Amino acid sequence: MKALLLENIHPIAVEILEGRGFEVELRSGSLSEDELREALPGISLLGIRSNTTITADVLKTAPDLLAVGCFCIGTNQVDLVAAADQGIAVFNAPYSNTRSVVELVIGEIIALARRLPEKTARMHEGVWDKSAKGSHEIRGRTLGIVGYGNIGTQLSNLAEALGLRVIFFDTADRLAHGNARRISTLDELLAQADIVSLHVDGRPGNAGFFGADQFARMKPRSLFINAARGMVVDDRSLRDHIVSGHIAGAALDVFPVEPKRQGDEFESVLRGLDNVILTPHVGGSTQEAQEEIGYFVAGKLAGFTLHGSTALSVNLPAVQAPELGSGSRVGYLHVNVPGVLAAVNQLLADHGANVEGQYLATRGEQGYVVTDVAEALPDAALADLQGSQHTIWLRTWRA
Ligand SMILES: NC(=O)c1ccc[n+]([C@@H]2O[C@H](COP(=O)([O-])OP(=O)(O)OC[C@H]3O[C@@H](n4cnc5c(N)ncnc54)[C@H](O)[C@@H]3O)[C@@H](O)[C@H]2O)c1
Repeated sequence: MKALLLENIHPIAVEILEGRGFEVELRSGSLSEDELREALPGISLLGIRSNTTITADVLKTAPDLLAVGCFCIGTNQVDLVAAADQGIAVFNAPYSNTRSVVELVIGEIIALARRLPEKTARMHEGVWDKSAKGSHEIRGRTLGIVGYGNIGTQLSNLAEALGLRVIFFDTADRLAHGNARRISTLDELLAQADIVSLHVDGRPGNAGFFGADQFARMKPRSLFINAARGMVVDDRSLRDHIVSGHIAGAALDVFPVEPKRQGDEFESVLRGLDNVILTPHVGGSTQEAQEEIGYFVAGKLAGFTLHGSTALSVNLPAVQAPELGSGSRVGYLHVNVPGVLAAVNQLLADHGANVEGQYLATRGEQGYVVTDVAEALPDAALADLQGSQHTIWLRTWRA
């Protein structure tokens, strides 16, 4: 099987796919729709990053395509519904840059507590301003984490190792890591924290949830960090509270409106303020995260094609099918209508097949059932199922 990897995907992905028997073709840039139409026939796996757009039309001209790997976090560049309709699995790497974000936030906490942004700016202006005024150690300070998911919990662990006292608020029930303490309301957290760091997700209800009222409730001279989503914070209120001195410093990596292209002007009310770190949405952008993404997505693509696992696919029903140790496997992606599982099992019973494992998941209008049997069923036995009007695809694997 052939894999086509575009946009300088990390070499570890090539290593993994070649190691699993794929022939890998590499291209450094993205491809246009026309170029994709020409390149995709004969390709089983396509790897892209954020600059390649996969439309429904492109997918129609890719008869051999089994899966698309988005070697990045987002999947907006792929028409996920059209891919699902054709039974093409799409994978991404939603959590591979967690550590990178956490390390940036830890660095920012220390930099803000020592007022490094203004100190380094003065030095570049040629001003020697040696003073301890407003500079603090972070040891013993209270870090308030809002949103205790993948990033929030990892930040919690690293922050404690540095001697911070960690409290957190999450709308869901989350287990406290280490000595961190759950706080039952956001207002209580804001009243206690010396540093507030946002790590909530981008659900629509979170738009503008941190504004004038929340900044006013933060402790005087506290620090504020947002490396989550730009739309959750009212930057104008943040500016007001920094200018008034109520907030002693802030670090922002995400913004309500971000420039679309490299080199475009960045417009924000937060520009030009002392002790404010502004970074261009690079929290997750490190070489290590790229490698982790390459490893993760290539593994998912290989797992899907070589043993039918759709675990963590963003568009097909997710079945975590283990590697096949012995016997044979039938994977059946179908339209989710009543009676399909019964039909599969009847077929197996008719052929005296000894079922060793069966996994089923549904997602919207599709169902996926993976059945492991001791002896492979003859192709003729599977023909009826293959010919059913509910079939999207039927594939078999042998150990
Ligand atoms: N800056 C970057 O480059 C970068 C990189 C990766 C992720 N992110 C962003 O970081 C954020 C966190 O990522 P994650 O992987 O930890 O997500 P996650 O889904 O694992 O965790 C989010 C947590 O926030 C909680 N939550 C949601 N709304 C809340 C609210 N209003 N109040 C309190 N808790 C709330 C959820 O219950 C969940 O526990 C996301 O917004 C993600 O897009 C940014």
